[in-house]
Parts: sequence; C-alpha cells; structure tokens
Amino acid sequence: MAVINYGRHTANLTDPCVLFLIGMRVNRLRSVGAWVPVARSMGNMIAELAQDRHSGFLTARTWMGWRNVLVQQYWRSTDDLIRYASDSNRLHRPAWTDFYRRIGVADGAVVGIWHETIVLEPGKVETIYGSMPAFGLGEAIGTLPATGKRESAAKRLAVN
Ligand code: HEM
Repeated sequence: MAVINYGRHTANLTDPCVLFLIGMRVNRLRSVGAWVPVARSMGNMIAELAQDRHSGFLTARTWMGWRNVLVQQYWRSTDDLIRYASDSNRLHRPAWTDFYRRIGVADGAVVGIWHETIVLEPGKVETIYGSMPAFGLGEAIGTLPATGKRESAAKRLAVN
C-alpha cells in the first residue's frame, strides 16, 4: 500500500527537468502478434532505465485506456533522454529500427506511436498534491509543503 503524504505539497523544482509522454495506439486489435511486442518492449526499456542510476531517467507511470497505452516519464534533461534513445547498446535504438522494419507508419499500420517532450522550467510550472502518495513531478524530484510563499498557485509560480 502506497504511503499517503497527507496535507498539501508542491514539487520542489529548482532546476529544469523533462516530462516525456509516450504512447501507442492499437489500430488493429486482432493483430496481437504485432502490437504486444511493442507494448512489451516498452516495459523492458523502463526496467532497463530503472536499474541505471546514471541514465537521467527519474520515474515512469503507465496508464491504460481503450486501444491506448500512455507512459508518463520524467527525465533529468533532454540530453539524457536523447542520449538513451540513440545509444545502440541500449534496448531503444534497435527497437526503433525494428519498429520501422516490422510496422512503420504507412497506411494500414497496426500500431500508432507518439511522444511529446516538454521541458519543465522553474517559474513555468505549478503543482499541488493534496493527501496523495508520491505522484508525477513531485515523485520524480521531491516535494515541499505548499505553505507560506508556496500557498497559492500564483505564489508557487513565482518561487518555482
Ligand atoms: C523508455 C521508453 C522510450 C523512450 C525514453 C523513448 C524515447 C525516444 C526518443 C527521445 C526518440 C527521439 C529520438 C530522435 O529523434 O533523436 C524516440 C524515437 C522513436 N522511438 Fe522511442 N522511446 C521509448 C520507447 C519506444 C518504444 C517501446 C518503441 C517501439 C518499439 C519506440 C520507437 C521509437 C521510434 C520508431 C522512434 C522514431 C520516431 C520518428 O522520429 O520517426 N520507442 N524515442
């Protein structure tokens, strides 16, 4: 059972970091043999990253919807993220090549893929976690009580 941090807390963003949203959309449900390996390789990459303290990967959380899988990831920097993605000794780069060889993005592709890379900068991000287990950006970088100069959204935007 996750530990609940009671009260109001906010992420302690002192340096820029990165929110990386990545997902797949199953276009053809019956082609199980094509999309299950894509979903499985995502899990393997998260496991690879979770074991490497120097990768710059911070946390990940997976969300499932009808036909869609979304993974919400936090990274220390875009350099770390792109370094991982293009390192031929890690799981991602070969999976990228394999994806275009087996599936691709042409008409009739059985799986759709997407990602969005968002740089989170102090002064441009506001967060609140009320009586929640560690979550989102707060889980990735830690939190402070949302009191005093962090009491309201406007104040939090001004301090971090
Ligand atoms: C931890 C999970 C993952 C991370 C952090 C990640 C990250 C990235 C990044 C940063 C890029 C951009 C690389 C560049 O253009 O220089 C990229 C591209 C790509 N990734 Fe991933 N990825 C992940 C999982 C996957 C999975 C599971 C697949 C499919 C098996 C995949 C397939 C691709 C493909 C095909 C591209 C090229 C897209 C294009 O520009 O056409 N990725 N990924």
